[in-house]
Amino acid sequence: MENNVLLKNCKTDQGVKNIHIIDDKINYVGVETPKSLQVLDMNGFLIIPGMIDPHVHLRDMEQIEKEDWLTGSKAAINGGVTFVFDMPNTIPATICCRALERKQRAAHKSLINKKFYLGSNGENLYYIEKMLDENFSEIAGIKIFLAASSSNEVMNYKYLDELLKLAKKYDVIVSVHSELKDCIDKYSKLYDHNILNHNMLRNKECSIQGTKNIIESSAKIGNKLYICHVSTKEEIEIIKQYKQDYPVYCEITPHHLLLNEEILKIVGNIGKVNPPLRTKTDNEALWQAIDDNIVDTIGSDHAPHKLSEKNLEYDKAPSGFPGLETSLHLLINEMQKGNISLEKLIQLTSTNAAKIFKIQNRGELKTGYFADLAVIDLDKSWKIDSSKFQTKAKYSPFDGFEMKGKVVKTFVGGKMFEINTIH
Ligand code: DOR
Ligand code: ZN
Ligand code: ZN
Repeated sequence: MENNVLLKNCKTDQGVKNIHIIDDKINYVGVETPKSLQVLDMNGFLIIPGMIDPHVHLRDMEQIEKEDWLTGSKAAINGGVTFVFDMPNTIPATICCRALERKQRAAHKSLINKKFYLGSNGENLYYIEKMLDENFSEIAGIKIFLAASSSNEVMNYKYLDELLKLAKKYDVIVSVHSELKDCIDKYSKLYDHNILNHNMLRNKECSIQGTKNIIESSAKIGNKLYICHVSTKEEIEIIKQYKQDYPVYCEITPHHLLLNEEILKIVGNIGKVNPPLRTKTDNEALWQAIDDNIVDTIGSDHAPHKLSEKNLEYDKAPSGFPGLETSLHLLINEMQKGNISLEKLIQLTSTNAAKIFKIQNRGELKTGYFADLAVIDLDKSWKIDSSKFQTKAKYSPFDGFEMKGKVVKTFVGGKMFEINTIH
């Protein structure tokens, strides 16, 4: 049957509107009541573009025990996320055509939209170029890790300039995990290895120096650069300075914005993540950077691992935790507290990512755009409970946090998912 539904009484960033969906697109947004086969009264629920999450690790393939595309995309839907960019540090890593094909096959299970990052190990330029030639529309960008962060990450020192030049030629974004390996090795000898020292061990200096280096190299070459999960005040200052005349984009995560190392006393290795949770001063600098329009996007860095692995001793516990089900909720909660405007929230969670990564017809509530929507009950109070997550990783440093505002429906290309019923 044809999909032809009118969502009435939607609270939007443009006022109270009716939204008419035909098939996978928005056919009309306005105050009229166009004829439709079906009418759903939204009773003043907030409707925003579905979150475009530019940073997730959906694993699958050889790490199906951590996550797969079905559980990952169900988690996304639970969190109002309708589009994800999957990172390349999977097993196998997305560094050659065969690995990309395997990931594309695994991702057939996905319920949401997706693009894939290509990884660079400094020696696969030939393959990167081939993948860009053959699969351009499915590729989010090229990801580089300046240091190994968790398992199976690919490092890149060699041929960095060549890689940046290649990215420029294809006008594709280079995204960076900015922590320098040599710097981490240095600090590793200076402190006792336990979770409370994580922020000292993977010292902020390693992120700051990494960001400085990569921006300098990129600014010389002129490629588009995107710094993932910026975590320190100093990196914000560097980005701010360069941003005036060079396209460097800045992503932050909800955990670097809302948490700091203090929480590790309570959650231990559950809160182990790279870059580490920093300090209150850094939280404040990230908030200021949102206000100053230095931050372009918010990424969840959804990084599921097995709980049994997270419970290992500090050195053996992997870094990362799930974020797909908490990220948009945490931001909505901040909006309710008056810490961020609705307009800014929409920009940071969808519109800007669509623009930066050239995703056509998504990221706004507009006629002709895809009907990727998150429907939010702003009055609903609830508590984050990781045991109810759809991700396989049922833990979170945000467990028990009080939220106001809950995603109750998610539309992906016009298809409606009721949040309580996807299992
Ligand atoms: O904490 C992290 N986990 N940081 C990363 O950069 C990678 C991620 C993962 O893949 O687990
Ligand atoms: Zn990272
Ligand atoms: Zn990541």
